[in-house]
Amino acid sequence: MTDISRILVVGSGAMGSQIGMVCALSGYEVRVQDISTDSLDRAEAQLHSRIDRNVEKGRLSAEERDAAFARMTFTTDLAEAAKDVDFVIEAAVEKLDIKRELFARLDELCPEHAILTSNSSSFVPSRIADATGRPDRVCNMHFFNPALVMKCVEVVRGEQTSDATIEATVELTKSLGKLPVLLEKEINGFVANRILTEIRREALFLVDGGYASVEAVDIACKSALGHPMGPFELQDLTGLDIGYYAAMGRFADSGDPADKPAESLAKRVEAGHLGRKAGRGWYVYDESGNRVGV
Ligand code: 3HC
Repeated sequence: MTDISRILVVGSGAMGSQIGMVCALSGYEVRVQDISTDSLDRAEAQLHSRIDRNVEKGRLSAEERDAAFARMTFTTDLAEAAKDVDFVIEAAVEKLDIKRELFARLDELCPEHAILTSNSSSFVPSRIADATGRPDRVCNMHFFNPALVMKCVEVVRGEQTSDATIEATVELTKSLGKLPVLLEKEINGFVANRILTEIRREALFLVDGGYASVEAVDIACKSALGHPMGPFELQDLTGLDIGYYAAMGRFADSGDPADKPAESLAKRVEAGHLGRKAGRGWYVYDESGNRVGV
């Protein structure tokens, strides 16, 4: 079994930064790497304010918080960050060519024993694994947003993933206090996002057809079905671009018009209305992230 103590997280967006923090809070030495210093600075600041709240609420001591941050390094230097890691979680942009290039580079830079995983929900492991010389040590490790809170992590076995890689990834997931959901063979979207996609498709059908407003659909999902958030609120949290690119990927694979992203979603993505991170998605947000309108 791979002994894991050093973890590299590639990408410092909402997912990458919180995944890094989850690992650091569980005692791992973590490097968070990004090509953008702005994104790294933002990630560090946001993590501090999130984790400070946990200290204020008495869930974490100030010493535990400081120790977790001391285990984290934020860097733009991929070669330096990768050179002695045991495990990689890639949480970069959901574009296949970029991921394949990145995995080829990680394969060169990381030690031979290191396991390379992707947080992607759009691309199954075998789309990425053959960009490396170690396809047996590649799988998906898919966290949910917000990663500091959501317990589920989907661990996805690719066509060439070894049992040892799956075992190590499942064990790591448990050691992070998360619940592993194992996919024994790959399928686009895995479990949770496939179900969510159907809910979103129906929600958009109702809004685009003029049957109900965005707010009405969200209220129904929460108050009738007990969902913690409506599908539009949730898409604002996860990023409209993430859903859009995932749908584009499915459409490119299947050619099925039902997989094509809805026009109303495409228009918002083109306009840069990507959700909370952009101050506007299906709803409008103020600078503190409070919802102020539709
Ligand atoms: N980041 C980190 N922590 C957050 C957060 C965020 N963006 N938003 C809320 N939280 C924390 C809060 O700090 C709070 O923690 P505390 O109890 O320690 O104070 C806790 O979550 C609860 O927050 P709130 O009381 O403000 O609000 P809610 O009770 O509504 O909970 C929620 C917020 C946990 C986000 C809840 O609404 C929820 O579970 N929503 C659904 C989330 C979901 O479905 N995620 C999956 C998305 S799909 C996905 O990620 C797949 C990917 O491939 C796109």
